[in-house]
Amino acid sequence: MQIYRANIIFTPESRRFEVLPHGYIVVSDGKVEGVYRALPPHLADIPVTDWGDRLVIPAMNDMHVHAPQYRNQGIAMDEELLPWLQNYTFPEELKYADITYAEQMYRRFVRSLWRHGTMRVVAFASVHLESTQLLMRLLDQAGMGGRVGKVNMNRNCPQGLCERVEDAVAACETLVAEFERKDSRVRPIVTPRFIPSCTPELLQACGEMVRRYQLPVQSHLSENHDEIALVKELEPESRHYADAYDRYGLLGQMPTIMAHCVWTDGDELEMLRQRGVMVAHCPTSNFNLASGLAPVRRFLDAGIPVGLGSDVSGGHDFSIFRMMVYAIQVSKMHYQRDKSCAFLSLAEAFWMATKSAGSFFGKVGSFEPGYDFDALVIDDSELLIDETYTLLQRLERFVCIGDDRHIVARYCQGRLIPEP
Ligand code: GUN
Ligand code: FE
Repeated sequence: MQIYRANIIFTPESRRFEVLPHGYIVVSDGKVEGVYRALPPHLADIPVTDWGDRLVIPAMNDMHVHAPQYRNQGIAMDEELLPWLQNYTFPEELKYADITYAEQMYRRFVRSLWRHGTMRVVAFASVHLESTQLLMRLLDQAGMGGRVGKVNMNRNCPQGLCERVEDAVAACETLVAEFERKDSRVRPIVTPRFIPSCTPELLQACGEMVRRYQLPVQSHLSENHDEIALVKELEPESRHYADAYDRYGLLGQMPTIMAHCVWTDGDELEMLRQRGVMVAHCPTSNFNLASGLAPVRRFLDAGIPVGLGSDVSGGHDFSIFRMMVYAIQVSKMHYQRDKSCAFLSLAEAFWMATKSAGSFFGKVGSFEPGYDFDALVIDDSELLIDETYTLLQRLERFVCIGDDRHIVARYCQGRLIPEP
């Protein structure tokens, strides 16, 4: 059993911060046993790790990120989605056939997640099996968790990224055999890249993998107008883009995350709600690729779960803290067009990044009893201009202007995670 003392902040509900000034978190077997304003007498003999005046908050979850786009972070943002993929993204992902290159980049990728306080991810790897296995092992060795998808794709892409359906199925079996155990931190996820990248035969095979191995699904949905028009052409029988996934058993038959959903509304939004699909909102990517502004308030009002994603390298920034700021700003732009869409509060953005996103991994993202102790210790003393900031103002300043230098310790499932 471990006991930590610090200024504890988390969001048990979407609109409410729980704040315990100099409170105690009791952790047992990697899970939170309870948070206390004063230490209960029966725990008085257990040594306390005292983090002083620092903040302790749940660790970040990045619900959509492309590991093999690491080298392209911060460049090549002068095209919309479809030409961006062809001109910049696919040429980079081709390099991951080379396991030596993959190892160099994936080590840096894992370190970048760590640095930014992201302890769990839902990530796209590339189409290549060996480099995907490598990425999963590196994350696991680092002590971090998540779901990693070997990408499935076989059309509208360079030859070297185009897989055979039988190879896709065999690769999935290999990953399931190595990683899909009840207690594994890093597990596979079925990852059809998006409808334009997958023939009906491959989509069918993906749906079968989901059923056979009871695996979750991630993909992209309604990100960009040209993409949506192309899907209409490729899947003319579908009512809308989400229906195209649904017809192949890829929408909510198992837990599902769809990235972006910028243009999702009406019947498509209703289908996400009915199927319990989580939306990964990636505001920086939506800016950089000029995709549009996702209607997050509409999703929340409908009860659709939302998490935040960096979408590196469509997004240029790994920081999920900055994603909270951008998500709030996006919602404020919406609000000026439609005052019925109240803009997001800091509590809501924080909740999306922690408890809402974390629900995809089990009991993750809160400090309520039974939750995995995934936590960050924040030393914001450099940001304190005077003594009068409240704890929530200190958190807000860190979220807006803090960075990795202010994160002084990271925990995942109760374990202190050293720099990988
Ligand atoms: N849609 C299909 N592939 C991708 C990708 O790599 N990034 C983004 N942002 N959208 C996609
Ligand atoms: Fe993406």
